[in-house]
Parts: sequence; C-alpha cells; structure tokens
Amino acid sequence: MKKRIFALLLPLMMLFTFTACTDNGQASNGSTTNNTSQQNSSTEKNDSSDTSDPTNPENITPNDSVNTDTENESKILVAFFSRADENYGVGYIEKGNTHIIADMIAEEIGADSFEIVRVTPYPEEYDACTDEAQQEKNANARPELTAEIENFGDYDTVFLGYPNWWGDMPMPVYTFLESYDFSGKTVIPFCTHAGSGLSGTVNTLKSKLNGATVLDGLAIAGTTAQNDQDNAKTAVLEWLGELDI
Ligand SMILES: Cc1cc2nc3c(=O)[nH]c(=O)nc-3n(C[C@H](O)[C@H](O)[C@H](O)COP(=O)(O)O)c2cc1C
Repeated sequence: MKKRIFALLLPLMMLFTFTACTDNGQASNGSTTNNTSQQNSSTEKNDSSDTSDPTNPENITPNDSVNTDTENESKILVAFFSRADENYGVGYIEKGNTHIIADMIAEEIGADSFEIVRVTPYPEEYDACTDEAQQEKNANARPELTAEIENFGDYDTVFLGYPNWWGDMPMPVYTFLESYDFSGKTVIPFCTHAGSGLSGTVNTLKSKLNGATVLDGLAIAGTTAQNDQDNAKTAVLEWLGELDI
C-alpha cells in the first residue's frame, strides 16, 4: 500500500522540484536586465560555481583584474581637453596628443571618458590658435562647453588631461573645474606639452580644488604621444602602476 502511495506521489514531487528550479532562474535573470555589465558579471559567477569564492586565493586569476576594472568603470572618470588640427611639431593631426593619452588610460583601467569641448572651436592653424588662447588666458575667460556630466557625483577618482597652453591649462579646463563639486574626490592630472612639462598646473589644481586630493601628474611630450605611441604607452602603464588607486 505504502509503495502505491509513493508511486502516485513521485510524479507530483518531480513536477514541484522542476517548477521551483525554473522560478529561481527567472528571478535571477530578471534582476539584471537593466544593466548589461551586471548581467555579464552575474553570468560569469554562475558559470564558475566551484570557483565563486573571491576571498579564496586559489580563485584569483588574471581575469579577476578585468572584473575589478569593470567595477571601477562607474567610479573612475578620465576627463580631458585636447585639440586636433595643426599642432606643435606634429603637423596637422586627426586626434589630439592628450586625447591619445586619455584613451590609453581609460582603456587600461576600464574608466569612463569625457572630452571637454569648447562650443566655439579654436582655429585650425597653430599660430592663430596660440594667439586666441593667449587672449583667452589674459582675459581669464571661462568659455562655454558643449556638454556636461550629469552623474559627476558617481565618480570618486578623476583623471584630468590637458595640453600645456602658455604654461597653464587651457581655459575650457577651468570652465570644467568650476562646473562640478570636486570635494572628496581624487584628481590625477596628466598633460602633453612641447617642453614645459606640467608647468605650475598641479599647484594650480591643488589651490583651486579645495577638498579634493590632487596627486602628482604625468607629463608626456606631445610628439611622443602622437608619433611614438609604444614609448608613450610604456610611460603611461608605468605611471598607472605606481598610483595607489
Ligand atoms: C595655444 C597653445 C599654447 C601652447 N603653449 C605651450 C607651452 O606654453 N609650453 C609647451 O611646452 N607647449 C605648449 N604648446 C604645445 C602643446 O602643449 C602640445 O603640442 C600638446 O601636446 C598639445 O596637445 P593636444 O594635441 O592634446 O591639444 C602649446 C600649444 C598650443 C596650441
């Protein structure tokens, strides 16, 4: 008699077990539909169920550093100003020298990237540009920018890139700095130049950004950034490796 009751209940028990598994799967997928990167990471975790304990040193593989970078994506920003067209020692270029370095940094650490762009473009010719930039600096102008960052508060570290212009940062960078609250953030400057290095820009940033921690910056010659990208990348990677971020 007991055997007959069990035989009758068995199909019901199997049906119940199958339904429970299916429900779990749907709940897990549904919670990550709004964020592709979260979906990916949850998929990775599910796929490696026997190596999912991140605190176990045996489970730390080269891929883990990629995952950490992905986490950093929402917290580190690379903001930069850069100008293409005719430039010092490189002729007419399609991508600005600082832009090249900014891309290297963003790609290496998996950070978001934001280009600071003046609404009115600078002249394409180098000499005309230096003249206009000098007038703008003398006037201590704050030129209007084309875009702003809505979620600036999400970032706790900001790499800030710019070319050395007249021993200073270009004025659009000042507009950018004055558009946001940097208190509590770590700011890491980098610049390209034609011999002047960072000039006094790191000190300027330190005195300007009250409440922020401004680290020492990286200076790379614009010609190296444009024409010797292997060496530029080596310098960038070395510098990033020394930073405590
Ligand atoms: C308006 C202007 C002013 C510049 N002033 C300086 C300077 O004072 N010292 C220096 O070393 N380079 C100076 N340069 C050269 C740039 O810093 C260098 O070419 C830089 O790599 C340009 O970067 P970008 O292509 O990202 O704009 C100046 C260039 C321009 C266009």
